[in-house]
Order: sequence, then C-alpha cells, then structure tokens
Amino acid sequence: MIPKETIDQIINAVRIEEVIGDFVQLKKVGSNYRGLSPFKNEKTPSFYVSPSKGIYKDFSTGKGGSAISFVMEHEKLSYPEALRFLAKRYNIEIKEEELTAEQIQEQNERESLLVILQYAQQFFSDYLWDTDEGKSVGLAYYRQRGFSDATIKKFKLGYHPEGRDIFAKKAIADGYKQEYLEKLGLIKNREGRIFDFFHGRVMFPILNLTGRPIGFGGRVLKSDNKEIAKYFNSPESELYNKSKTLYGIYQAKSRISLEDNCYLVEGYTDVIALHQAGIENAVASSGTSLTTEQIQLIKRFTQNITILYDGDEAGIKASFRGLNMILEAGMNVKVVLFPDGDDPDSYSRKVSNEELNNYLHANAKDFISFKTGVLLSESGSDPIKKAKVIRDIVESIALVPDAILRSSYVQTTSQLLQIQESVLITELNALRRKNASKPESNARFNDLPPDLPPDDEPPASMGDNTQVAFDFTERELVRLLINYGNSDFDYHHTDGEEVQVGRLNVLEFITSTLNADEITFENPLYQRIYQMILEEYRENPLMLANHPEDEIRELVSQLVEISYSLSENWKNKHYIFTELEEHLLETLVKDCLMAYLLKRVETEIDKHRKLIENSDSIDEQLTLIAKQKELERVKVRLSAELKRVILK
Ligand code: CTP
Ligand code: MN
Repeated sequence: MIPKETIDQIINAVRIEEVIGDFVQLKKVGSNYRGLSPFKNEKTPSFYVSPSKGIYKDFSTGKGGSAISFVMEHEKLSYPEALRFLAKRYNIEIKEEELTAEQIQEQNERESLLVILQYAQQFFSDYLWDTDEGKSVGLAYYRQRGFSDATIKKFKLGYHPEGRDIFAKKAIADGYKQEYLEKLGLIKNREGRIFDFFHGRVMFPILNLTGRPIGFGGRVLKSDNKEIAKYFNSPESELYNKSKTLYGIYQAKSRISLEDNCYLVEGYTDVIALHQAGIENAVASSGTSLTTEQIQLIKRFTQNITILYDGDEAGIKASFRGLNMILEAGMNVKVVLFPDGDDPDSYSRKVSNEELNNYLHANAKDFISFKTGVLLSESGSDPIKKAKVIRDIVESIALVPDAILRSSYVQTTSQLLQIQESVLITELNALRRKNASKPESNARFNDLPPDLPPDDEPPASMGDNTQVAFDFTERELVRLLINYGNSDFDYHHTDGEEVQVGRLNVLEFITSTLNADEITFENPLYQRIYQMILEEYRENPLMLANHPEDEIRELVSQLVEISYSLSENWKNKHYIFTELEEHLLETLVKDCLMAYLLKRVETEIDKHRKLIENSDSIDEQLTLIAKQKELERVKVRLSAELKRVILK
C-alpha cells in the first residue's frame, strides 16, 4: 500500500508533458503539446497534452486521462505500479505500508541492482576518459573504429580496466554488496577469489526505455583470438531480459516515431554507426533472434520496421524469421540487404552519410519482392520448387491480420510471380482456415478490441431509446462537470426588454438547478462522481483522473476534453476563439440541463399516466391528473426554453 500522502505528493510532482514526453515526441502548440498517438498508427498528430489541466487526450482512440492513466495504459501497469514508476521518475521515496518483509527485500534488491548498474556505467565511462589506460586502449579503440567523442558520450560507452579485480575492489570499497555485484555478473567469485568479469573490454551499456542501465555488453579489443567470445554480455536478471530489450531504444525512440520507421539491425556497433551517420531511428536485437516482445516494443513508436541485415545466408535466414513475426504483429516490414561481407557499421564507414541514406532508400524492398527475389534465385525455373516458393509466400501473407493489406499483397505476388490471383486466394483462404481452427491461434485472429468499453453500453434494463438518451444526457452533464466544473461563464438572460449578463460557475449553476428540483442522477456511478466533485474535487474536478478506482478513472478518461485543439485552429484562422468558448460553455451547460430536466419530466409524465390508468379511485385519479397537468406545463416551459424540437 502506498500511503495517501505519498500519492498526493506524486500527483503534485508529476508534470504530464515530461512523463508523456519520455514516450511521445511532443511539439508545443499554443498552451498545449501535440504529437502522434502512441496508441494508434497515424500520420497527422491527434494526441494532445494539456500541462495546465494535467491531462492528455488522444483523439484517434478516444483515450484520455492523467499522467497516471497514461503510464498505466502505455506501460501496461497497474495503478500502484504506475505510481511507483512516476515516483521513481521524480525521485520520490515511497514508504510502503503493509509490505511483507519479503516484498521489501525484493524491492530493495531491485533498487540496489539498478544503483550498482548506474555506478558501474559511470565507473567505466570515467575510466575511459580519465585514465591513461582508458585513453590509450579504450578511447583509441573507439576512435580507430571511427566513433566520435559525441557518439561515445551519447551511448555512454566505457572501458573496463585490464587488471584482475580493479573494478571489484573499488566497488566493494565504495560499499556495494558483493552478492549483488556477482548477481549482476560484473564480478566472479571462484572459491572465494574475486575477479572482474569484463576486464580489458570496451563497454556498451544497455539502457532501458527511461535511460537507466540494465546490463552491459563488453567487447574484446583484439578480434584475432577465436577462443574468447567477441562479446560478453550481462546475465539475464529481473532487470535485464534479453528478449524484451532492444539496444539503442532509449536513444532512438523519439526519432522512430518522428520518422515513423524503425531500422532493425543486429549489433551494438551497427546501431552506433548508423546514429553517427545521422540515421537515429535504429535499434538492435543484439545477436538474439527477434522476439515478439521486441516487436511490440517497436510498435509503441511506429508500425513500420525496416530490417537491415548482412547479405550472407545467415543474415537472410534471420530476416525471414523476423519478417513473419513482424507481419503477424500487423506491422509493415521492409528489408535492406548489405553487400555480402558488410554490416551496417562497416558499410557506413565506406560511404558518405548521403550515400548511405540513398542506399537504404534505394534498396528497401517490401517483404514480397524481397522474399520472392531471394527464393526464386534459389529455385531457378524448376516448377516444383517454384510452387514451394509460392506456398512459402502465401504462408507469410496469411499471417497478416488486415484483410485489405492481405489482398494488396496477393496482387503484388500475382504480378511478380505471374500467377493468377484466384489461385493465390484459394491457397490463402485454406491456410487461414487451418490457422484459425488451431485453438492457440484463435485469439490471434479474433483479437480485435471491442470499439467501446463496456461502460458505454446501456445497461440491460435500459432497453428502450428514451432510457438510452436519458443516460446519455446524464453522462453529458457529468462530462461538463468534470471538464468545466470550476469554470465560470457569462450567463445571458432577459429581464423585460433588457438582456442581463451575469457571471456563473458551472458547478454551482448545475447544482442549484438540480437541487431546486431535488434531482439526483439515476446512474449510480454518475451520482457518485457528482458527489465526489461536490465534496472533494470542487477546486479541480479533473483530478478525478487520478482516482484509485478503475471504474472512476476509466469513465473520466473517456470524458476528459482538451478543446483547445479545435479552438487554436479557429483562433489562428478566424481570430474568434475567446468569444466562442464563452458562448459555447453557456449554451452547452444550459442546453444540457434543459434537455436533462425535460427527459426527467417526460419520465415523470409517463409514470403518472400509468398510475392513472391503473388507479381505481376517482379521487386519486384526479390528484394524479392535476399533477400530470402541472408536469405538462413544466414540459412546455422547458421545451420553449430549450428552443428546439424535442428529439424522441
Ligand atoms: N553477439 C554476442 N556475443 C557474441 C557475438 C555477438 O552477444 N559472441 C551479439 C552482440 O550484441 C553483437 C551482435 O550479436 O553486437 C552482432 O554480432 P556481430 O555482427 O558479430 O558483432 P558486431 O556488432 O558487428 O560487432 P563488431 O562490429 O565489433 O565486430
Ligand atoms: Mn560489425
């Protein structure tokens, strides 16, 4: 349990534009920020962040909410996990209540490991820049490979001293637990003799999304010795999971979303060389074969991947595996092969930045052309082999979740291979039927999220349209309360001939109207939120976006608005924004209240009609009829006030 005061402390410290800015490239527009939706592939930015309101709104998916909701949604975290994430981001210490001793230890350990990794990274960097050995061996190596000082710093590269236990001694003397140093694979313990694991290697820290080191790759300097592995890597730990990590993601992420493409390479040095050559949207799978988790990580920033692999057989094989996985993730994939014997690093050093860029563009092949090209060159004109090639390609197409895309791939294949589309389609459908009938793949083919969260569906008891419209109006009132509860607006009303203008507060206006008629919301969730705004959130109803209850946060996330997106446009184009917003608020609130009251009156009238029909006492009927007449009058008055046709 995180104590309430700490939660408040976190909420107060958080600046939503910073938190979101870690994941989304944001650009300032007026008083807001705008960027590409991290939840949907889009070309025109429709994702807005309002620092003053502390909320974001993604117009392409309808998602919205606080920094906490964003972190939950984006990082797939629970509420307390999101709070911890933010606490860490803002160096707020969380004093946990009611944690088991075991949990405390686990958490302390995780934290200690991160601290040690940070310490080690700094140690290797300092050693590289500040010592004779570092400079003459490590720095000389990097420079000979063509890495500039800026590049070395950007990737926080370092050097591990040659001696047997220089790092181990220093780290232990500085108070870091030997047990943790061993666990991280930084030092080895052989029958009580401690020595350094990475000694004499140039060090490539592996950073997580937020830029914290979670592991290292260490390269030997001499490449002639085939006995020793070229790279040593940190062992997997609860912090470093190879299959979920992409080397360079921290440095590349904003560029990836900006370019709307991610270059995927194999090695540490490929990433670094590409960045130095100005291609900053590159990450590496670091020698492991590509995993679905890595693809999902890229998918947060773009739908497009371009695989850059060596032109040798191993490279091609690796790219084939990756291709299918990327297609299956519903993403677009291209492939660039380098001349045999070159990887992106070595190639980039042979040509100018411009030539490299041109090469990448000229040689990026969509997956069908690429695969057909490679396979056909192997099969020659042998018809049986050619049939196998076709089947292989159709198998890949069958993985694509989007039907339109599948059909466009079928067209391309048909043209490239000179084979009728109908033949390909028959084969494709057979394959997809087969895939769909496999139980484990059912989910994959039916994994479209429902368009609306269940909240939006009318409850079963509200079957008829009147009830739906009724609930909708209540919801609209709640929306106004959440977004504009503490705003004031100019209230125009006629007093005889004269038009009077007064200043009114949205919450007070709604409350006084509802109270006058002793009305409470019928939807219990809306009523609760209304109560909470009155009691706790009067000053800033938008703070409900931080509420610990999922139900509340979720509703708020659907209702929050950043209306400036629209108005800025208007302001810039027509210079009429200020007046309009004032007007809008008055009309919105008035109309909504009137429509709501009208609906309530109509339900009352209905109720009375039934009562009259069922009553067998004349006296009672007369009283009911009188009441009914009164209600009808109210209805007429309201309708007139609303000045619009009543929509049934
Ligand atoms: N790799 C590894 N262990 C090895 C060899 C390779 O972990 N013994 C991983 C590293 O992440 C490496 C990637 O596989 O970056 C690609 O390997 P390779 O192409 O051999 O290395 P390069 O990155 O090209 O390194 P260099 O250019 O320094 O030779
Ligand atoms: Mn290389």
